[in-house]
Amino acid sequence: MSRDTLTITDNRTGKQYEFPIEDGTIRALDLRQIKVNEKDFGLMTYDPAFNNTAACKSRITYIDGDRGVLLYRGYPIDQLAEKSSYLETAYLILNGELPTAPQLQQWTEHITLHTIIHENVKKFMDGFHHDAHPMGMLVSTIGALSTFYPDAKDIFNPSSRLKQTYRLIAKIPTLAAFAYRHSMGMPYAYPDNDLSYAGNFLNMLFKMTEVKYKPNPVLEKALDVLFILHADHEQNCSTSAMRGVGSSHVDPYSAIAAATAALYGPLHGGANEAVIRMLNEIGDVKRIPAFIQRVKAGEEKLMGFGHRVYKNYDPRARIIKGIAEEVFEVMGRNPLLDIAVELERIALDDEYFIKRKLYPNVDFYSGIIYQAMGFPTDMFPVLFAIPRTSGWVAQWVEMLLDSEQKIARPRQIYLGAGLRDYIPVDSRPSAP
Ligand code: SDX
Repeated sequence: MSRDTLTITDNRTGKQYEFPIEDGTIRALDLRQIKVNEKDFGLMTYDPAFNNTAACKSRITYIDGDRGVLLYRGYPIDQLAEKSSYLETAYLILNGELPTAPQLQQWTEHITLHTIIHENVKKFMDGFHHDAHPMGMLVSTIGALSTFYPDAKDIFNPSSRLKQTYRLIAKIPTLAAFAYRHSMGMPYAYPDNDLSYAGNFLNMLFKMTEVKYKPNPVLEKALDVLFILHADHEQNCSTSAMRGVGSSHVDPYSAIAAATAALYGPLHGGANEAVIRMLNEIGDVKRIPAFIQRVKAGEEKLMGFGHRVYKNYDPRARIIKGIAEEVFEVMGRNPLLDIAVELERIALDDEYFIKRKLYPNVDFYSGIIYQAMGFPTDMFPVLFAIPRTSGWVAQWVEMLLDSEQKIARPRQIYLGAGLRDYIPVDSRPSAP
């Protein structure tokens, strides 16, 4: 009868060790029993970028990378995209269950009534250069919100956490829209509580001199679905930043600022911006083969392709590709789509990408839609950060309430200089 254990023989000592296997893992701390003598610190694992390390137990999002499956609290992403709304999905991700009608109504009301930000925040926005990147403005002003809500430090008080959750989900679109309006040199447009979450965001972005902004229902729905698709994605780089920074027990605004900064990177949330720049650089379907050659030569990355977990088609990319046609019917076709579709066709038929299991990820088509909706390229990662706020908060709460978690502090393999004495500056050898 096989046992759920792992037996290891240390050939340095001939000793054998047996460790329990739980949830497909062994506890790294168990390896510290493996020593060559009593003074030995014991074995550790070495796993740069955590390619094969589970840092937590979670019940929020499940990804099957080989089968291209994504579930939020067990619900398939394609069903949520088709039948749910972003606020309902955010409730699900945060609470573990779909809300009843009264719960959804109360949740929506609370968030709607928290969309306005302190007037002083505008002074931060006004201080940025006209061409400041909106992600830089978002990181800064989210961090600044921690100074307006000192009660947020009471992180183990459930009612305080819930109030910060309302504030964060409600106010980040306002900060994002204010950053956009600042970069366009336009006056800020305030929230309109009669509109939906996505509709109000469009209002704060694009309202001109009309008394009341009326969002285009096709764009409002497309944006809401895009928010659903970007709400959470288990232990990605920015969520790991949220958990790591949050593990010091800092307030959630400071932790979300750190997560937003991680998302800003071109390998993560900044990829949708990089995809548009890449498609513009290619410029014409006839130039795709030459670009593919440069990718295969390691001179370029095919941005929007590849994923640490998905070794099959990212299910979100498939849904986003479907939204594109609906948006183009309203806004006109984005010529970059033809280049993207042809680039995908060629890449999926090329051994280099097939061997490396590189498929379109969530960022490959999202930028094309955002551009067609009228968003400038540097707003794309901001559109990613807005919905991911609910995922970051859910992961942060799960970390705080997990009795096995404590402050994140990985070990290292030290390869630096050994012990040596200080040398006075006039006794040091001249630089080589
Ligand atoms: C997101 O983790 C998440 O969940 C993130 C995200 C979320 O919702 O939070 O899904 C959102 O960030 C999606 C990813 C967006 N980033 C990009 O599209 C940037 C381009 N993609 C790559 O940088 C890369 O695919 C990563 C960073 C996404 C994943 O990198 P991995 O898993 O560490 O893969 P790797 O770098 O080890 O690459 C394996 C091989 C290498 O070739 P060899 O050295 O074996 O010859 O594949 C190659 C890489 O060079 N490769 C690519 C490539 N991605 C990987 N080659 C060309 N173009 C690419 N895009």
